[in-house]
Amino acid sequence: MQLTWLGHSCVLLSGSKKVLIDPFIEGGSVAATNPDLVAITHGHSDHMGEAVALGKKTIAITEIARYLKANGVPAESMNIGGTQVVDGVSFTMTPAMHSTSIEEAGMGFSGGAPAGFVIGLDGIRVYHAGDTGLFSDMKLIGDLYHPDVALLPIGGRYTMGVTEAMMAANFIGAKTVIPIHYNTWDRIAADTDALKKGIERTTDLRVRVLLPGKSLDITP
Ligand code: NI
Ligand code: MN
Repeated sequence: MQLTWLGHSCVLLSGSKKVLIDPFIEGGSVAATNPDLVAITHGHSDHMGEAVALGKKTIAITEIARYLKANGVPAESMNIGGTQVVDGVSFTMTPAMHSTSIEEAGMGFSGGAPAGFVIGLDGIRVYHAGDTGLFSDMKLIGDLYHPDVALLPIGGRYTMGVTEAMMAANFIGAKTVIPIHYNTWDRIAADTDALKKGIERTTDLRVRVLLPGKSLDITP
């Protein structure tokens, strides 16, 4: 399976299916990735992004799924703690400590609750934390689902920063840690060297800092 960080919180998993998570990049489009499935962590515009325009089968929390269906997008609803398999890809929805609202619909739609996903594709499990602060139940995500890869926000201000992400990586225990949700704007600038050194000096986990558009081969 190939994992591509397209920028911000947007990640493409390419294997027997192409799964696009949080289809937003700053000042561009991710439509050319032509995914089979789309997963949305929460309603904020830097995560919903092109979900409606793409119009692909989209996995999201009940309230966002309802909004997408109303806009003509085939959506598969679920909720936190649940798992569903869509076209051979498994999606487990995890909690996230954050807020949510469907901004493109105005301030009136709460969009349910913010979430993350553990996605199982071709025998590899990838945890995308969504936007979240640190919470100790990340240990449960590690113990229950044993993700191979953890995609963690590190930009601070709206999510965990580098210090919290180091502890999150320990809680989750995924061998490969990839930082996301940083440097998109100055207000979420982050020091990836500090993250890498902090985690790799004290654990056997490895941090892979990707440039936007860069891919990584993930093997079981
Ligand atoms: Ni957000
Ligand atoms: Mn965000």
